[in-house]
Amino acid sequence: RKEIGIGLLGFGVVGSGVATILHKHREDLLHKLGVPVRIKRVLIKDKNKERDTELPKEAFTDQLDDLLNDEAIDFIVEVFGGTDDAKTAIERSLKAGKGVVTANKDVMAVYGKELLALADENSCDLFYEASVGGGIPLIRTLEDGLASDRISSLLGIVNGTTNFILTKMKEEKKTYEDALAEATALGYAEADPSADVDGIDAARKMAILASLSFSTEVHLDDVYVRGLSVIEDGDLELAEQFGYTIKMAGSAKKDENGIEVAVEPVFVKNEHPLASVNNEFNAVYVYGDAVGETMFYGPGAGSLPTATSVTSDIVAACRNLLLGVNGKRIHSFQYERKVKSDDQ
Ligand code: NDP
Ligand code: HSE
Repeated sequence: RKEIGIGLLGFGVVGSGVATILHKHREDLLHKLGVPVRIKRVLIKDKNKERDTELPKEAFTDQLDDLLNDEAIDFIVEVFGGTDDAKTAIERSLKAGKGVVTANKDVMAVYGKELLALADENSCDLFYEASVGGGIPLIRTLEDGLASDRISSLLGIVNGTTNFILTKMKEEKKTYEDALAEATALGYAEADPSADVDGIDAARKMAILASLSFSTEVHLDDVYVRGLSVIEDGDLELAEQFGYTIKMAGSAKKDENGIEVAVEPVFVKNEHPLASVNNEFNAVYVYGDAVGETMFYGPGAGSLPTATSVTSDIVAACRNLLLGVNGKRIHSFQYERKVKSDDQ
């Protein structure tokens, strides 16, 4: 094999970041893998948009088939987002024998188990590190790093946009509208930011983390969600007066009664480390029977941090291809469903 070819679906905040990292770090990646990794084609919506990139104009297309029929493309990186089109594109890629790296929590939270099974059937990899925690390597930590432990609970901040908004409203007294506009301009918010502010994005991420942590299948519908709209006028000031900070927290716990997962704004004591997790940063505590308490912290959204996770999946997929072991994994999602609401 002389090189590994990638088909990139999407060239927005994350996709352009992936192209930047693959270009800037090309010597390091060559050193690590022994072969160059090249983006061959890029799927976008608008062919006439001006793009600031090293990639040639001919690389851009609005036809998925141009990528799926290209034999020089070994696997697909899906970073265009949404649910239906993205799910179809992932399915078609896997059926075409091309492994997939995705940052898409909308798809993985709802169809993760189904798509991982399809990947296995087609002897393809399906990696999704960037779907939770932006640049924090959380998925691999839960699947591999803590695989020997029995995880009992998770607590953390898993949405960068709402954390950014709450930070700006508290620290700089910005209005909700101005803070949301700033988060959008910085590329942190979803295409439809109601997913962020209503807690749905965090709920998707908690469903993925809980599924991996508890080796079962936690559905998005299993997550109790309350968004930023439950915060009333004066709540931020009240919290400050009594030594608390309001944070949008995700929690998941497993005990003898089953599994409970929730996302909602909560009062966090200022002395608690989560109170100082600011702006687009995320942090997740993982409690394991043997390891005790661990905390993972880092940028939860944004172009290069998220692209770092996507690119680490690209490296993993390249290694598997080079070793001929692509598609050979045992996934946590394959375990049986044991959620509390099911048992009642
Ligand atoms: P953007 O909106 O910035 O970019 C989307 C890109 O996909 C654009 O290049 C757009 O084309 C293209 N596109 C969208 N729909 C289609 C379609 N149907 N067919 C072809 N091309 C399409 O999104 P982001 O980069 O912010 O997000 C991408 C994914 O990464 C999402 O799943 C998101 O949830 C996830 N993610 C984002 C993070 C972030 O910080 N932004 C962090 C972690 C995950 P065109 O350029 O022509 O408009
Ligand atoms: N909109 C998401 C967030 C992007 O703000 O956390 C990262 O998944």
